[in-house]
Amino acid sequence: MLDTQEIVTEARDGVAVARIRRPEKKNALTVAMYTALAAVLKHAEADPEIRVLVLTGSGDSFTSGNDIVDFLTAPPAGENSPVFQFLTGLHRFEKPLVAAVNGLAVGIGVTLLLHCDMVYVRAGARLQLPFANLGLCPEAGSSVLLPQRIGYPRAAELLLLGEPFSPEQALAWGLINGVGVDAETTLDLALAAARRLAAQPAAAARLTKALLKEPEAARVSEAIAREARHFVELLQSPRARAALEAFAGQRTAGS
Ligand code: COA
Repeated sequence: MLDTQEIVTEARDGVAVARIRRPEKKNALTVAMYTALAAVLKHAEADPEIRVLVLTGSGDSFTSGNDIVDFLTAPPAGENSPVFQFLTGLHRFEKPLVAAVNGLAVGIGVTLLLHCDMVYVRAGARLQLPFANLGLCPEAGSSVLLPQRIGYPRAAELLLLGEPFSPEQALAWGLINGVGVDAETTLDLALAAARRLAAQPAAAARLTKALLKEPEAARVSEAIAREARHFVELLQSPRARAALEAFAGQRTAGS
């Protein structure tokens, strides 16, 4: 499809799989990777042969979120930045979208799941939204979507305290569709769902998704833009820069 070294795609029988492949950095997402992912979404939307898109990771991670070094050296500047193009593309994606979360998912690795239609997560995978801990704020519409999905008290706990949570909790809260025993089983679950979705009449699947999303679509678009404005500003704040530099510095010192 549109492969780069770190975003690899494969399509068969109407199902395209996009894999994030930077396992040595826990699949942390760089500007270039957001650009590639946004292009994959565009391509998958336009190609009539593709009925369903599956997102997955590699190694022991789905993704550890935005690359922290990038946050310091090439932060998103506004709504046209690749990360926001990716998020908008995800929010507007009209075909069914499935996630196979093969391991660790942090930050945008969790918030992007709120835009998928079906989500399967590997048992033992750590899920976390540490935005507030880093002096940042929610993104990807999660300030609207998360409380809507799991209720305000739990969403506040996850977003204000940034505590890790488990796939089993996510399943019990109705945030995901299933838990696989290992990465392979998780991908199998996601692919089985994707194949069933691909076998549905395409127009009916697309319309059903549109109708499911429509009541909240405008509110979510506004939230993505509102959060982005705050996020971009907070990235320049001394508090956030200190937290990000602490992570980046520790790693440089340790390596
Ligand atoms: N950005 C950049 N590099 C990252 C990264 C990220 N988000 N997450 C992991 N890495 C890198 C590490 O720097 C390390 O690189 P090195 O081997 O060159 O030192 C490598 O990936 C392995 O990560 P490591 O921290 O050693 O693995 P771990 O199993 O001990 O911890 C995490 C995994 C995810 C808990 C930890 O890496 C982490 O907290 N990452 C940051 C997550 C985050 O805050 N994301 C942003 C959310 S907004």
